[in-house]
This record gives sequence, C-alpha cells and structure tokens, in this order.
Amino acid sequence: MNTKAERRQLQIHVLRYNPQDPDSPPRMQTYEIEEADNMTLFMVLTDIGEHQDASLQFDFVCRAGICGSCSMLINGRPGLACRTLTKNLGEKITLAPLPTFELIADLSVNTGKWMRAMSERLETWCHNGDVVDLNKLEPRMEPELAEQIYELERCIECGCCIAACGTAQMKEKFTGAVGLNKIARFRLDPRDHRSDADYYEFIGDDDGIFGCMSLLGCNDLCPKDLPLQTQIAFLRRKMLLTGLKGNSSG
Ligand code: SF4
Ligand code: F3S
Ligand code: FES
Repeated sequence: MNTKAERRQLQIHVLRYNPQDPDSPPRMQTYEIEEADNMTLFMVLTDIGEHQDASLQFDFVCRAGICGSCSMLINGRPGLACRTLTKNLGEKITLAPLPTFELIADLSVNTGKWMRAMSERLETWCHNGDVVDLNKLEPRMEPELAEQIYELERCIECGCCIAACGTAQMKEKFTGAVGLNKIARFRLDPRDHRSDADYYEFIGDDDGIFGCMSLLGCNDLCPKDLPLQTQIAFLRRKMLLTGLKGNSSG
C-alpha cells in the first residue's frame, strides 16, 4: 500500500464531444486525480464525475466485466474500464470512445443498436422449428457439449472486437468476430436445426466470414479471452466447403 506522499498524480486526457450539443466541439480535456490502491478506470471516472465534472458522460452497469457497457479506447486500445487497473498504465492516460459505434457523448457509445442490427441480420437465436412445449423436457445434452456452448456464450457484447478490427472500420455491415462467434455457438447447439447451407446464407459473403482478413485484433483484445481465432478459422473452412458443394451441385 502506497503512502500519500508516494501516490502518483494521474493525468486523464478524455476525448470529449456531444454530437447533440452545438456548443460541444470535439476536444481533449484533462483531469488530474490522485491514484488510490487498486484503482480502476471505473473509480477514476466516477471520482471525476462526482468531484470535478458532472457533465462527463460514460457508461457502467456491473463494474465486474459482465455487462460490457464500459468498453472504451484506453491509450488507443479497446478495453473494459472497470477491469483496467491504473497501476498497469502510465501516469498519462488517454480515454476515447470506441470507434464504429454511434457516439452518444464523450465515452458513451450505442453498442446495443449495432449489436441488435447484427443479431437481426444473422438471426442469432435458436431455430428449433417447433412450438416449444413447456411440459416436455428438452433432450439431454452431453456436459462436454454444454461446456463448449457455454464457452462461446461468455461473450458480453462489449464491442472491443469490432473496435479492434480494421475490416469492421471499413465495412459497415461486417458481422465481425462477435457475430461469427454467435454463429459458431448456434452451429454447436443440437436444438438449432439450421444446416451449414442455411448458415452460409447468413455469413457466406464479404460481410461475413469471407470479409475477415485474419487481422486478429479481435482475438488479442477480447476481454473475455474467447477463442475467436480458432472459431473463425473453423467457420471459414466449413463455409468454404459448403460454398463449393453448393456451386458444384447448382
Ligand atoms: Fe466483447 Fe469478446 Fe464478445 Fe467481442 S467476442 S463483443 S470482444 S466479449
Ligand atoms: Fe477482424 Fe478478427 Fe477477422 S480483427 S479481420 S474479425 S480476425
Ligand atoms: Fe460492466 Fe464494465 S461496467 S463490464
């Protein structure tokens, strides 16, 4: 534990802009704050909001890396503010909103709107073809398979993989790693009756698996450490084979 005399003075440079407010041009604003033990960027921003500048906008819900709402560019890299300790950063810290997503103001972006549009395009829900009979138990699933599905379901839709992806910056409708991971998750699920030919309709183009240029920023910066590289490589092979079969039979 550092004594008060040993504590660092942090300089927090924040990119500020409210597109709804004509008096708010894009600008950098600097705040100074004394570092505390085990301080996270959530604590920094809350302190600034409470004691220095109540107009600063940013999002937090869970403070525990679960809701995905506090993602932002931290010294230029996408990450979760609530899981980032200041002791792992220098004294000068730059914060900016995630690119690609609609800017609400300052550090707050509308990831929900982007995620919803992507989910509707890819139909990221279980297609079981039946009306669910609540009196009937679902068929048993092997625990190993349930684990594999759970592993991919840990995505918190934070948007870091999209902000880290050069393709997503260039192509508005690119599904990105978050969308491809969702398709990989439903492919595993025996309750989803879609075939690979059906999945090909959703991701077998340049806005899907064939738009991915293997830049791997998604894999390197996913805060939940999802196995995105493996899933994307697997899906690419599967969709390539599915496309070739489709072309030869057509
Ligand atoms: Fe965030 Fe990872 Fe999900 Fe992308 S795949 S939205 S980086 S949790
Ligand atoms: Fe983008 Fe990840 Fe592919 S960073 S290009 S989705 S490997
Ligand atoms: Fe929920 Fe950071 S506040 S992930």
